Amino acid sequence: MLRGKNIWIIGASSGIGAALAKVLNERGARLILSARSEERLRKVSENLSSETIFLPLDITEVEQIKSALGKIEKLDAVIFLAATYQPGSFQNKSLEVSQAIVDVNFKGMLNVVHVVMPRLQKQGNGQLVLCGSVAGYRGLPNAQPYSATKAAIINFAESLYAENKETGIDVKLISPGFVRTPMTDKNDFKMPMIIEPSQAAEAIANGMTRPGFEIHFPKRFTFFMKFLALLPYPLYFAIARKMTKP
Ligand SMILES: NC(=O)c1ccc[n+]([C@@H]2O[C@H](COP(=O)([O-])OP(=O)(O)OC[C@H]3O[C@@H](n4cnc5c(N)ncnc54)[C@H](OP(=O)(O)O)[C@@H]3O)[C@@H](O)[C@H]2O)c1
Repeated sequence: MLRGKNIWIIGASSGIGAALAKVLNERGARLILSARSEERLRKVSENLSSETIFLPLDITEVEQIKSALGKIEKLDAVIFLAATYQPGSFQNKSLEVSQAIVDVNFKGMLNVVHVVMPRLQKQGNGQLVLCGSVAGYRGLPNAQPYSATKAAIINFAESLYAENKETGIDVKLISPGFVRTPMTDKNDFKMPMIIEPSQAAEAIANGMTRPGFEIHFPKRFTFFMKFLALLPYPLYFAIARKMTKP
């Protein structure tokens, strides 16, 4: 049940986050939208309920997250979607680019969880939804360190879920396959079973109302990736290389 819930989407200015804002709005949630770009957040909220508020912030700046939380009166769920990605081999990325990916995707996630957890704990209820990726199931060629940050988020969310089994905080993990967004527009290979952001948003909204830890979609692709994760290394490497060839 999402009607009347106060839901903070971090990473709401484009792609899956913007589509999710639309779906949750249609299902009656009250939304707080965050990302860096105030202009894009304003655009997303233009077509949503007038109750929608947007709080621009950079997740690499912990004080900005604290200040935003201070402006949020009621909080039932936090959905963390913010991330950055650069395709290509690791050697062809500058150290600065790789560090920025880790700073946003992993350290940014730590910042957000560190700030919001005390509020949820004090309430004794609420949902914390973190976004990993099937790219984190195993190391993918031409996706580092993005792929490693997603593996770290999966691992982190698993621990958090287990730690909070008794606290009333519902920790969930989103594991998308390929979704057509500004992030994947950067890829120059054919993305198998790619879906639209609206489909991803429906799957997330449905998953939030169901019991269980992982919300993964599209199922045909994610089950295939789960199967790949079980294969011995030589077989896995052969398939992974083929899958990401331009
Ligand atoms: N698309 C896919 O195929 C796919 C597959 C698996 C997982 N995912 C995951 O799904 C999530 C959403 O991705 P997407 O495809 O929708 O990508 P996207 O369109 O590029 O959206 C990324 C969002 O993160 C925000 N963001 C980036 N850096 C930020 C920062 N420092 N502080 C605050 N916000 C920041 C961006 O807004 P600003 O630029 O305005 O800050 C934007 O709203 C990500 O976690 C991604 O890893 C996507």
